[in-house]
Amino acid sequence: MMATTHEAISVAPSVPVLSLQELVKESLSQVPDRYVCLNQDPLTLFDEMPAVPVIDLKKLAAEDITSSELEKLHSSCKEWGLFQLVNHGVSSSMIEKLKAEIAEFFKLPLEEKAQYQRKEGEAEGYGPIRYLSDDQKLDWVDRLYFMSNPLHVRKPHLMPNFPPSLRDTMELYLAEVQKLSMKILGSMAEALKLKDKKEIEEIFDDGLQSVRINYYPPCPQPEKVIGCGSHSDASGITILTQVNQVEGLQFKKDGTWLPVNPHPDSFLVIIGDALEHRVTVNSDTERISIAVFFNPKLEANIGPATTLVNPQIPPLFKTVTMKQYIKEFFSRKLDGKTFLETMKINYKASNGDCHM
Ligand code: OGA
Ligand code: NI
Repeated sequence: MMATTHEAISVAPSVPVLSLQELVKESLSQVPDRYVCLNQDPLTLFDEMPAVPVIDLKKLAAEDITSSELEKLHSSCKEWGLFQLVNHGVSSSMIEKLKAEIAEFFKLPLEEKAQYQRKEGEAEGYGPIRYLSDDQKLDWVDRLYFMSNPLHVRKPHLMPNFPPSLRDTMELYLAEVQKLSMKILGSMAEALKLKDKKEIEEIFDDGLQSVRINYYPPCPQPEKVIGCGSHSDASGITILTQVNQVEGLQFKKDGTWLPVNPHPDSFLVIIGDALEHRVTVNSDTERISIAVFFNPKLEANIGPATTLVNPQIPPLFKTVTMKQYIKEFFSRKLDGKTFLETMKINYKASNGDCHM
């Protein structure tokens, strides 16, 4: 083993490591303190567990705007904040190839992966989650996170420098899911009966796109850790695919935590900041997932669609630029709340004093 790897592991286990995956290889019997994260809200158990709605893109595309599939999309977004998308049209052989490339990536020796290592103070790169204070509990995960669009924001040492077959397959995949995201957003605009669905399409066209590949190693004491703590995504929509069909993703609906049972050959679509979710891990199997986040362009205004509000129907949320939104999203501690809640206009308290 190279010195870098060994040094990283031989430090006190309470100190964050270069790669959790490597730490786990040392056959840990106990979870280091930094990762112990007790008192999580338990899953809610029902006799019959509610299943995440399944939306069929083919039906959505084929039917007219009064279709029942569109109705289902509408209620999924409004009442669930997520859905599984089937018949999405993205080539399954390409998805399988990407999954295989990603599984290979995590098998690379740490010395190889080190060229992608997240640098101090940066969000992008490979490694354990960024920690902001010495007493912060750490998620049981290694991540590879990078901005993928617009092209000029790509960091040369990340995606352009990936092993060529991973890079090329990732490129194809991103082009496909980008097209798919526009279809989904277009259907959401239809479901909302927006007079002008271009309003959504324009702000997302060639918008910000980033990718987070999550590697959750098996954990000797899974009940003591969390793979990804409760959060909402800073995105318009997120398209998630699970590399190996290992369960673990959970989401909050009407105050209760429910599991996602992945539907084969589907993508999970998360309505960005509107959905609180988290990931648990298990003792015998690693879990790998690929999340692609779709956002408007930096200069776009985001807020209630202008065609939906008027003096009789005043906006319930503020309008801010995408740039401002990102800045605020990452500078606040959300305490389990979605950022969206902080965007609500409180007419009583502020008498309409908002940043419109
Ligand atoms: C995320 C996320 C879920 C998963 O990366 O934001 O929520 O299943 N991932 O890994
Ligand atoms: Ni997420």
